[in-house]
Amino acid sequence: MNVLKRYLKFSLKRSSQPQGTMAAATQVLACDSTSIIFSLDDQVAISSPETLAALRTAASCLKDLFPVAFPTETVYGLGAIALNATAALKIFSTKGRPADNPLIVHVSSRRMLQTLLPQNYTLSPSYELLIEHFWPGPLTLLFPCDHSLIPDIITAGQPTVAIRMPSHPVARALIAVTDAPLAAPSANSSGKPSPTRAEHVLNDLNGKITIILDGGPCEVGLESTVVDGLHEDGNIRILRPGGITVEDIKRVLVKGFSDANTPIPQVLVHRRDFRDDALEQAPTTPGMKYRHYAPSVPVTLMRMSDAPLGIEPLSPSAFLQDLKRSMPHSSDILRVGLLMPSDSILMKSLINDTTIQWHEFPFGLVSEPAIIARRLFDGLLTLEREGVDLILVEEVPEENEGLAIMNRVKKAAGSSQWITIP
Ligand code: TXA
Ligand code: MG
Repeated sequence: MNVLKRYLKFSLKRSSQPQGTMAAATQVLACDSTSIIFSLDDQVAISSPETLAALRTAASCLKDLFPVAFPTETVYGLGAIALNATAALKIFSTKGRPADNPLIVHVSSRRMLQTLLPQNYTLSPSYELLIEHFWPGPLTLLFPCDHSLIPDIITAGQPTVAIRMPSHPVARALIAVTDAPLAAPSANSSGKPSPTRAEHVLNDLNGKITIILDGGPCEVGLESTVVDGLHEDGNIRILRPGGITVEDIKRVLVKGFSDANTPIPQVLVHRRDFRDDALEQAPTTPGMKYRHYAPSVPVTLMRMSDAPLGIEPLSPSAFLQDLKRSMPHSSDILRVGLLMPSDSILMKSLINDTTIQWHEFPFGLVSEPAIIARRLFDGLLTLEREGVDLILVEEVPEENEGLAIMNRVKKAAGSSQWITIP
């Protein structure tokens, strides 16, 4: 680990410059997802010559041990050959990622998953069900780690390894064409919002990587759900809420176990339904130890739910008065970004104030949390680039996709403000 830390220190210092043989400019290669088809036995066919060429170029860059950015259905990932420690280390130096934050390994087939698991390990009935229903897709499962196979840099010393099979055709085809599992965190500088479009990756990592595969905007928009189902009690622990909702996981387990003689596993959400000291110490779920998802402008979470004891909620106009007094802003007029549902009552009352320049980002309806999830990171990154002084994000109910949305928003926001509408 000491050698690793020294390497990281060294490479982090250099990470703002192009490394080794890497080109200063980053190439963005367009891929047509519709030209990629997987058969039921996980074989890939690619009908577009341009897409095939882009995937081959990216695969050869990966085999030269350089990272490549690629789209997944959740967010863009920064991939490297997972079973090669030198390749995986470059992910950390490119992102400025702390060495104690483990990576997810991405596979393109069940056969590839099997090559990563310890011999004699058999999947539990819960894992079989979850894989059957949600793979390929935004669900990451923890597995026991074969340390003779998986480099320590991937697991950051954990006894488990996190694995998922992405459903984005470009991601899955890249893994299949490279013919190797890829380790991939989100393709952003550590601490920033995750990229959901190729342009976000380019704005952040231009000159630091050689290739970005562009497969259009990500459909889910938030990262995968990270699940630990390895405990003796057989329960399913959600370490990070994400693209697959807790409600969906419960539904599949209840149905799948209905005829079994064993009890239905419980689904427990970290910090809501259980705490774990070891988890709190190690940054095994994002944001526990390090700042996450934060753009360079301040973010305030606007809460309309009941304020905790001792906190007096403000009316929208009192809030705006405070804001204008306290907010340092460079231009003559205060510029405020809004990430609020288009039918938000709060937004309607705020934008009445014409002394503020409002930057509204289309965010979907209150009743459409999946759309809000898709647009959250895009909204944070777009408003940051528009040069606003502050971003206000409205709270959503913590159910369905709302649980993952609020998990990210709470970490992105430096402060919360309770509001009451008279
Ligand atoms: O949707 C996603 O999961 C995206 C795309 C690119 O696949 N990837 C992603 O990776 O979000 P990253 O590195 O930003 O977040 C992975 C999280 C880490 O914060 C880490 O704490 C957790 O998964 N993780 C990885 N391995 C783990 C392990 N062995 N035990 C517990 N948590 C682990
Ligand atoms: Mg990330």
